[in-house]
Amino acid sequence: MIKAEFTWVNGKLVPFAEAKTHVGAFTLHYGIAAFEGIRCYKRHDGRSAVFRLHEHIERLFESAKICAMEIPFTAQQLEVGCAETLRANNHPEAYLRPIAFVGSGQLGLGARDNPTETAILTFPWSPLLGDDGARDGIRAHISSFVRGHLNTTMSKGKISGQYVNSILAKRESQRLGFEEAIMLDSDGRVAEASAENVFMVYRGRLYTPPLEMAILAGITRDSVLVLAREAGLDIVEQSFTRDMLYAASEVFLTGTATEIAPVREIDGRIIGTGKPGPVTQQLQAAFNKILRGPGEPRPDWLYYI
Ligand SMILES: Cc1ncc(COP(=O)(O)O)c(C=O)c1O
Repeated sequence: MIKAEFTWVNGKLVPFAEAKTHVGAFTLHYGIAAFEGIRCYKRHDGRSAVFRLHEHIERLFESAKICAMEIPFTAQQLEVGCAETLRANNHPEAYLRPIAFVGSGQLGLGARDNPTETAILTFPWSPLLGDDGARDGIRAHISSFVRGHLNTTMSKGKISGQYVNSILAKRESQRLGFEEAIMLDSDGRVAEASAENVFMVYRGRLYTPPLEMAILAGITRDSVLVLAREAGLDIVEQSFTRDMLYAASEVFLTGTATEIAPVREIDGRIIGTGKPGPVTQQLQAAFNKILRGPGEPRPDWLYYI
């Protein structure tokens, strides 16, 4: 359940119960909206900081541009809006969901004059695949749903309608008793999970699919790559196949909602020892230190509220 007292709507904080939209909203019918998923953490020193807020808002504007939508606010106004909403809700630790969508007016596909509505929700949300998932690893499968071709899915945009593909994959994985779906692209290469990027350790090197594939340019993915580089790991941003995943010594998923989730099994094959491996644990520890401390290894990634 989304629990909040206030929501930011078109520049103003309104009571959560009043943050409503019309059934004629264009986005409700066609799924064109740009959105973000961001987290704010309570740190060791008691202060709260949003992780890489600037990069998330930058990606929100990129997603809107891909949709040929104009957000009627500046990035700075939205960053301040995020902080205001967190403070109004008294949320020291929360998930943030800014969204820009096309409101009510005309319903023809070519409508250009409907208003762009902008909103920011904040609410408490624990890691998507659970604390157990982060500690012990999750079970995943290769989805029968495929990521769209590069010219079908605008994968660099975090665009609402594109999540139908992810939801179908997620529902299939739940029905089959798995926690997450790993999706291939239209050429059969490993792309990403329903809402996470994929990493694996294969023959001693850290692999993740490159950005020229149909994947979201995950901000957690980027953060993990920075940490892996600092740790001197041998990094390969290159496409790979599902059988390489089966044979990998470690597999993990990265995303804002999920953070870093080790994968212990894929399609009935135990990955490595079946427990989070040393590279995954090392990266999880480095990542958690940035989010919560102690110390402040990456102040440039924190926006204090
Ligand atoms: C499809 C997809 N891939 C990857 C990610 C991970 O991106 P990030 O780390 O920026 O949250 C997400 C989550 O936003 C996602 O929805």
